[in-house]
Amino acid sequence: MERTLSIIKPDGTSRGLIGEVISRFEKNGIKIAGMKMIHLSKDDAKAFYAVHKERPFFDSLTDFMSSGPIVALILEGENVINRNREIMGATNFTEAVPGTIRRCFATDIEKNVVHGSDSPESAEFEIGYFFQ
Ligand code: CMP
Repeated sequence: MERTLSIIKPDGTSRGLIGEVISRFEKNGIKIAGMKMIHLSKDDAKAFYAVHKERPFFDSLTDFMSSGPIVALILEGENVINRNREIMGATNFTEAVPGTIRRCFATDIEKNVVHGSDSPESAEFEIGYFFQ
């Protein structure tokens, strides 16, 4: 049994995609083990995405992530880190497999509706960031 962090980003919450995203997890047999709606400050977003601080998109990304409420979810299940990444699709929605969340709903590489931890180490950090 494994856990991972998912975030429904501000574009997902503002466009009414919370239920759609959660139902995709549940229909795939993934358990929602924690859930919180939060409005991050710019500093919160910078701390969460610190791994990307040298990237050219860091300022824009942290502006976007603090622009409205997000939903942080703990997902639980077997091999759930990889399964969540498959359900989300590639970061760049134009490269995502048809039927994935990002391919269906993302509008650009930044506004890609969902985030998911990419490794056991990042899952541990990211779950701990939102759920103490
Ligand atoms: P996420 O999986 O949350 O991880 C980092 C985020 O940065 C990514 O999704 C996108 O929302 C955003 N981003 C913006 N531009 C890029 C880019 N060129 N490459 C990767 N991620 C980007």
